[in-house]
Amino acid sequence: MTEVAELLRSRIRDVPDYPERGVMFKDITPLLADPTAFTALTESLAELCTAYRATKIVGLEARGFILAAPVAVRSGVGFVPVRKAGKLPGATLGQAYELEYGRAEIEVHAEDLSRDDRVMVIDDVLATGGTAEASVQLIRRAGAQVAGVAVLMELSFLGGRQRLEPGLDGAPVDAI
Ligand code: PRP
Repeated sequence: MTEVAELLRSRIRDVPDYPERGVMFKDITPLLADPTAFTALTESLAELCTAYRATKIVGLEARGFILAAPVAVRSGVGFVPVRKAGKLPGATLGQAYELEYGRAEIEVHAEDLSRDDRVMVIDDVLATGGTAEASVQLIRRAGAQVAGVAVLMELSFLGGRQRLEPGLDGAPVDAI
């Protein structure tokens, strides 16, 4: 593991039985509160965005916003929020997806993405991959290309990467 990855891992707190019994919650607030760790994460994500020639950063509500916005500023590209349904005031594209129990829907302002855009999706966690997969579908429906999906951490036992990769046409999935 790289030095940066070790630092980041050391700043992620495991919280047992949250938000419900049997779940080990990965709390990133200690990482956000440590400027060395937060800066190192921002720089690592920004390097990927530069390497993949991203022209827009999509952040996924809510924790994804915190990570994606400074990466967009550092990379000199625009930030586009993908929000849970009903939160964006303009003309939206929506994408429903299955959760373990029930369904969810996310939305984006269609006018914020164009055919010329190469979009990097940034989030804190890749778990089952449902949220990231729905985001990729939204970006494609808006006419833009997906440059890659990058997350702070991947819960590999949940199989998100296997779910995502077939629909990415070779675009990379990175977990810092
Ligand atoms: C969490 C996390 C990812 C998503 C990953 O978001 O921040 O967006 O779940 O899960 P998946 O890979 O199984 O789709 P959550 O909906 O809990 O929202 P929050 O960031 O608003 O807490």
